[in-house]
Amino acid sequence: QMDLEEDVAEVLLTQEQIATRVAELGAQISQDYAGKDLMLICILKGANIFLADLVRQITIPVAYDFVAVSSYGADTKSSGVVRILKDLDESVESKHVLVVEDIVDTGLTLRLSYLLENLRSRRAASVKVCTLLDKPVRRRVDVPVDYFGFKVEDQFVVGYGLDYQGKYRSLPYIGVLKPEIYGGG
Ligand code: PRP
Ligand code: MN
Ligand code: MG
Repeated sequence: QMDLEEDVAEVLLTQEQIATRVAELGAQISQDYAGKDLMLICILKGANIFLADLVRQITIPVAYDFVAVSSYGADTKSSGVVRILKDLDESVESKHVLVVEDIVDTGLTLRLSYLLENLRSRRAASVKVCTLLDKPVRRRVDVPVDYFGFKVEDQFVVGYGLDYQGKYRSLPYIGVLKPEIYGGG
């Protein structure tokens, strides 16, 4: 990770801080969903690492599946639609669904994909959202966040699944990227 770490200005959340918080979230979810048919839905690719750690902190039976949505480039933003590129493999009917995200930033990914509405229309018993990071200052559309790990400021964060141009997802912590890397500051 040597060369990747040179691009990180500051460690915002250490591996230990993340692990502690993920364990707390797992315990809370286990309590809240006890006796219910729980299914986590991971939004590729960013949420993959959080999902993997989170499920291992959930002590009740849990299933999981993956969806991929197109990210909103200039094109999709004007059309107001984020397409579902990879759909679920299994039915969510009568299951208690928890959508897992690494970060909710503007909220456009969840809102423009109509993912939550889509899951409800497929008759999920309930649909909630769990995100590791919540960046409320950047929100452009309202998204219901039911569980979050940490609130973050308006900083360019990478690691633990979060990327910049496909890089840095493999960092075990969450760091702030140096402005010169993304042409900011
Ligand atoms: C990132 C992140 C969230 C989304 C949050 O995904 O993983 O899914 O953006 O931003 P928003 O609230 O402003 O929509 P990205 O589109 O970069 O795809 P990735 O998960 O494959 O990196
Ligand atoms: Mn994502
Ligand atoms: Mg990304």
